[in-house]
Amino acid sequence: MSLNRFREWRIDRMTDRIARKPHGKQARETYGSADAHSFAWEPVLEVLALGPTDRLLDVGCGGGVFLRHAQTQTGCDAVGVDHSRDMVRLAGPLAVLGEVEQLPFTDGEFTAVSSIVAFFFFPDPVRALREMRRVLAPYGRVAIYTTSPEAKGTMAAPYPLATRGHFYTDAELQQLPLEAGFSTARVSRPDEDGWAQLLFAQP
Ligand SMILES: C[S@@+](CC[C@H](N)C(=O)[O-])C[C@H]1O[C@@H](n2cnc3c(N)ncnc32)[C@H](O)[C@@H]1O
Repeated sequence: MSLNRFREWRIDRMTDRIARKPHGKQARETYGSADAHSFAWEPVLEVLALGPTDRLLDVGCGGGVFLRHAQTQTGCDAVGVDHSRDMVRLAGPLAVLGEVEQLPFTDGEFTAVSSIVAFFFFPDPVRALREMRRVLAPYGRVAIYTTSPEAKGTMAAPYPLATRGHFYTDAELQQLPLEAGFSTARVSRPDEDGWAQLLFAQP
């Protein structure tokens, strides 16, 4: 293996371990902590406007802290999906193992889909959104909290991890759900630093 390929392999391994497919003790501590990415919760809950009749799917749920928060705050039914076995184990009975591009659920099962700080790892965003749309009821909605291009190189997306992320301008991000078959989409900037984007779309 050349030095360059070895370096790329190490960056891939590090990205997976800490964020893209988290596993190991440190990852369990990070994503099991009660406030993991809690800065995203209120903006996401605000646009989803969940209530006790809603059934929420959180994609890339990590340790499941948002799932439990959403349930407690809104009375909704909540389920998580993640492709990391460690995270699914950590999240407990509310979570199942699965890939965003092949969600292990039937058509129209959910009234809402969320995804927090996971979207920028999805290799094919349109395919991911098409799958989210498939599991949504016709009156459903999706809220995706992701990292903006301006965050590259900051603590929100430090290098070299940032080289493994997919970043979109607001216009590009808004276009993705429309390509995936959603009828409306809008992007807002939920934080003061401008390091985050909130995508909201409806089938
Ligand atoms: C940075 S963590 C965020 C976890 C959680 N949403 C939170 O806010 O604490 C990203 C999560 O997305 C999951 N993930 C990344 N790509 C995925 C994919 N293609 N399918 C399912 N889960 C994925 C990872 O395993 C990881 O748990």
